[in-house]
Amino acid sequence: MYPRFSENLLISLLIIVHLTITIVADPQINLLSVGCSNHNSTNPSLFLANLNATIYDLKSQIYTSDGRILFATAERSNSSMPVFALAFCRGYLSRQDCITCLTSAASRARICSSETGGLVIDDGCTMRYESAPLLDQSTLPVNNFVCGNETDDTAGFDDSARELLRGLSLVAPRMTGYFAAAAYAGVYAVAQCSPIVSQPVCSVCLQVAYANIKGCFSASDGRAVDAVCFMRYSNEAFFPANYTMNLAAYFPPGI
Ligand SMILES: *[C@@H]1O[C@H](CO)[C@@H](O)[C@H](O)[C@H]1NC(C)=O
Ligand SMILES: *[C@@H]1O[C@H](CO)[C@@H](O)[C@H](O)[C@H]1NC(C)=O
Ligand SMILES: *[C@@H]1O[C@H](CO)[C@@H](O)[C@H](O)[C@H]1NC(C)=O
Ligand SMILES: *[C@@H]1O[C@H](CO)[C@@H](O)[C@H](O)[C@H]1NC(C)=O
Ligand SMILES: *[C@@H]1O[C@H](CO)[C@@H](O)[C@H](O)[C@H]1NC(C)=O
Repeated sequence: MYPRFSENLLISLLIIVHLTITIVADPQINLLSVGCSNHNSTNPSLFLANLNATIYDLKSQIYTSDGRILFATAERSNSSMPVFALAFCRGYLSRQDCITCLTSAASRARICSSETGGLVIDDGCTMRYESAPLLDQSTLPVNNFVCGNETDDTAGFDDSARELLRGLSLVAPRMTGYFAAAAYAGVYAVAQCSPIVSQPVCSVCLQVAYANIKGCFSASDGRAVDAVCFMRYSNEAFFPANYTMNLAAYFPPGI
């Protein structure tokens, strides 16, 4: 017989472990934008079969990726209904959260099942597919902002947000993997570009995103969404503290 107390201890430990995992896992599947291309597929069943295979490829690559930023591209180009796809997660998402976010994005893209393209942007990830190779486009008609529905009246909040996001829009294109996160005066923010675009395209996209996200600054949180870049700020931490960079180190004193 095992002593009763250790059984209880074991159960308590299991509960603690379970709670910890539940709290830590956060795939951030809050949907910000979903759009379909306006080209109807001429062979929907073949297109969907190719799309399924492509999404499977994307997720398999992310399972084994050892990059700092989890992202993948995949294609089925040897077909009369080709598919070219890209997925990337915010730089602070764990592998499991990234897979969960992309699974959710793929299921949301099903509303595009009669079209040959889709773009889904969640807080945690971006997924895009088209019937032609994904070009190095700077911004697409989807560029927009999504504001939270609560305001933050703290004096200087909008100035702090402006300063932090401007800094991130300049620093993220210089980072490996185009991702940067920082905090300043009670504001938390990230900026990211699609890992497959060139640095100038990343810079231009983040300039547009920065101009867009300014439209949210009276709200306690906001996002700028685009096919190839992303920005988000909040008065609450939405990424682990160890991802916070010291932006000042990237600017000469006095700027
Ligand atoms: C695509 O097909 C749907 C019906 O399946 C139709 O309503 C829509 O107008 C078509 N779009 C284009 C761009 O042809
Ligand atoms: C694609 O995958 C979805 C769900 O994973 C499934 O419902 C659908 O039947 C699949 N379509 C094809 C053509 O394989
Ligand atoms: C196309 O390529 C995939 C692998 O990328 C392969 O599994 C499939 O058999 C090929 N299809 C044709 C028609 O060649
Ligand atoms: C704000 O939005 C959240 C969900 O996004 C909702 O739960 C909440 O009720 C909303 N608050 C107000 C004040 O509308
Ligand atoms: C932050 O901490 C997590 C969990 O310990 C770790 O997996 C991750 O690599 C760290 N990230 C950075 C940028 O230090």
